[in-house]
Amino acid sequence: MIEFIDADAAPARNTGQVRLYGPEGFAGMRAAGGLAAACLDELEDMIVPGITTQEIDDHVLQFAERHNVVPATLFYRGYRKASCTSVNHVVCHGIPAHKALKDGDIVNVDVTYILDGWHGDSSRMYRVGEVRRAADRLLNVTLKALEIGVAQVKPGNTTGDIGAAIQTYVEGERCSVVREFCGHGVGLLFHDMPNILHYGRPGDGVRLQPGMIFTIEPMVNIGRPHVKVLSDGWTAVTRDRSLSAQYEHSVGVTEDGCEIFTASPYMVSR
Ligand code: MF3
Ligand code: CO
Ligand code: CO
Repeated sequence: MIEFIDADAAPARNTGQVRLYGPEGFAGMRAAGGLAAACLDELEDMIVPGITTQEIDDHVLQFAERHNVVPATLFYRGYRKASCTSVNHVVCHGIPAHKALKDGDIVNVDVTYILDGWHGDSSRMYRVGEVRRAADRLLNVTLKALEIGVAQVKPGNTTGDIGAAIQTYVEGERCSVVREFCGHGVGLLFHDMPNILHYGRPGDGVRLQPGMIFTIEPMVNIGRPHVKVLSDGWTAVTRDRSLSAQYEHSVGVTEDGCEIFTASPYMVSR
């Protein structure tokens, strides 16, 4: 049985209870999420053939310094970068490096900023130059999958409704959903309860209540769903080396739906 706890009364660690946040939490997440989105917006024109993923990370760090926020991934469990940059068949947690992106690549940039203790977590895909039709389609499907998940976020629905809707859509598009990584509670902690699986059955999981704040961040592969983590301990890749994509929003459950804290005009499917 899942328990709920008022975020003000919760200890500063993951206790297995689902925190419920009030208006201050939503205001804090709006500010932190807005900065993560603004940083990702700035990258839209910068990510062109020739840029290295380290240069992308440098920008994410400079943006943090400019806005007096802290990248949550810096020194998180031994991770040493301000962002994750996942190229082509890298599913997630790609480590920025001095390697140039080339025409036709796809790259996910995942940024989490901490502002006054609030964690704004978002990621999106970038097309490097001109990408192939299959890659373009994968990105469209993955963004749509996130939107379909977000549309399930309202009181009374469950976390399983989110996952089931995403899985049904993605598999209907003949793509696959990664199982090893999931969305998560977010707010005063980076990774909190509940887990948000991007697959599953309607009605399963935790019932959504106003005040819950979490991420939805589906990873979608063109090929099979299976992943492996490379020997650096972070980089997750598709086992069949097929292309993988991911989009992520931080959202809060309201009385009649949800608020997307990391919304951007660039992150709307058309
Ligand atoms: N931002 C990622 C997420 O969406 C987590 C990255 S943890 C890191 O949850 F250590 F790999 F950076
Ligand atoms: Co996340
Ligand atoms: Co993230």
